[in-house]
Amino acid sequence: MKRIAVLTSGGDAPGMNASIRAVVRKAIYHSIEVFGVYNGYQGLIEGNMQKMELGSVGDIIHRGGTILRSARCEQFVTDEGQWKAIEQLKKNKVDGLIVIGGDGSIRGAQKLTEKGFLCIGIPATIDNDIAGTDFTIGFDTALNTIIEAIDKIRDTATSHERTYIIEVMGRDAGDLALWSGLADGAESILIPEYTESFEEVIDRLQRGHERGKRHSIIILAEGVGSGFNYGKRIQEATNMETRVTVLGYIQRGGSPTAADRVLASRLGAKAVDLLLNGKNGRMVGLQHNAVIDHPILQVLEKENQLNKEMYELSKELSI
Ligand code: F6P
Repeated sequence: MKRIAVLTSGGDAPGMNASIRAVVRKAIYHSIEVFGVYNGYQGLIEGNMQKMELGSVGDIIHRGGTILRSARCEQFVTDEGQWKAIEQLKKNKVDGLIVIGGDGSIRGAQKLTEKGFLCIGIPATIDNDIAGTDFTIGFDTALNTIIEAIDKIRDTATSHERTYIIEVMGRDAGDLALWSGLADGAESILIPEYTESFEEVIDRLQRGHERGKRHSIIILAEGVGSGFNYGKRIQEATNMETRVTVLGYIQRGGSPTAADRVLASRLGAKAVDLLLNGKNGRMVGLQHNAVIDHPILQVLEKENQLNKEMYELSKELSI
């Protein structure tokens, strides 16, 4: 192993930079050269890569986004695209690749592994929806961004005695909604994994109202449907003054929290260790605060489980 490459792919997540930094520094520490690939798999197919030095990753540990930029690449989904990527890696004398990204990106690493190229995946997405790791890089930062926003909205909800629907990200995954709802004492949490009937939501709102509660917060994951439609239905059914806030891409940016920086650093270093030990097709992760690794195939086959106990607890605490 003389030269490795690193890329970021899919939706950006705070902490990706800290992870790139860890990969570059750890590799150079072991006298391995590192190439940074720009624009994810798209850049890999085009051979858009450059040698990175210690200084290339200076002053980035605290920055959101990714200095290597990211892309979603249709061409890479095809066999032809994957072979082109391998051709570029070989042309540049790269012996192993580290992919930082969400489940689609990790799946891409598995495709290269199957075609005989050494690859390791690092889970990074604000959605926290990858099996085999307790947390993905970026989740903690996005969660704290959401909490900060809800706290502000709560001030207005209380002052104006309104019901607020807050739509958070999570097309297929409810972790951001669940954790932020629990952390902020939301009345209802609507997530793709479990359905709560509209009647249940209304009942809870009305029970609170009868107890003298004059404001409410409902968190809805985008995968459940439009926050605006839901808000309209709530207002019509209850006659309570209702407002909707869609947090959108504000959740993806920003300086990573300490937890994300540390996670990103630990996972980045472990990925390099695995390549140095000749490991292939593995995804690194954190379980019970220990850095571990699993075969990517096993991770992708497993369904990521939402924490049901937390979901039940959120209901118990918002009776
Ligand atoms: O990063 C994950 C995620 O934020 C999802 O929750 C969301 O649905 C999706 O990415 C949107 O990303 P884009 O618009 O960049 O495809």
